[in-house]
Amino acid sequence: MTDISYRKRFLAQGNVYLPHIVVIEKIIDETPGVRALHFNFKDERLQEEFAFESGQFGEYSVFGVGEAPFCISSSPTRRGHLEFALQRVGTVTDALHRLGVGAEIGFRGPYGNSFPLDLLEGKNLVFVGGGIGLAPLRSLIWNIIDNRDKYQNIDIIYGARSPADLCFQYDLDSWDKDNSINMVTTVDRGDESWTGRVGVVPRILEEVAPSASNAVAIVCGPPIMIRFTFPALAKLGFTLEQIITTLEKRMKCGIGKCGRCNIGNLYVCRDGPVFTYAQIKNFISNEY
Ligand code: FES
Repeated sequence: MTDISYRKRFLAQGNVYLPHIVVIEKIIDETPGVRALHFNFKDERLQEEFAFESGQFGEYSVFGVGEAPFCISSSPTRRGHLEFALQRVGTVTDALHRLGVGAEIGFRGPYGNSFPLDLLEGKNLVFVGGGIGLAPLRSLIWNIIDNRDKYQNIDIIYGARSPADLCFQYDLDSWDKDNSINMVTTVDRGDESWTGRVGVVPRILEEVAPSASNAVAIVCGPPIMIRFTFPALAKLGFTLEQIITTLEKRMKCGIGKCGRCNIGNLYVCRDGPVFTYAQIKNFISNEY
């Protein structure tokens, strides 16, 4: 659970929209349009007290520009700094791409629910990710690796449009070397240097064909990948309850106040961002 002392101090600010100051400590340009940022709270006590769970998100602000939500992409099992990743798609993400190490930005959170670790315990886990969709998954994957004996087989199927679009290459290399993980990386289109698999994620998932027995699939990626991954998992025998995904949808306030992020009767920020496919199937069919 989120640390009580941090929550108390956060609420004691009086204004829930008031961010804490965090400092960018490291920047990794993952692809031409995606960067990962490592950060720490400016207030050392907050850094020590801050707690979150895999799957939760924060609201990040560039002063004078705006605020945007991103999942915390590092694992709560690895303290020392926090991480998030973003794709350059608009004003705030443009500004975040212009920042350098040492820059101060605002952070409020953690918000939302988290991946249900108790439900995943003792299960075979199948991670299916595309592009920057690996960001929330990697928080959970490292969390699980750090508690490896609680879980059964791990399959990770991850893809991107091209080799240059693969994010978190250092993670992919590390998981590839881990004998307890079946790491499968694919690209939609290879290049002259690519010797790995070529094919879209849902098709490669069907080829790998992980068993649905005692398994849970955790999926995150672009809408087109999601749209074809759910039926592929169904073909493999996964039920709606055996598929978990995490959504980022038009979130603004992050705390259930503005009503911008609703899908049906659910708020992504408050009831999610982690949902079973059973929970959201009827609401997302138009978008995914
Ligand atoms: S982002 Fe405002 S209600 Fe969800």
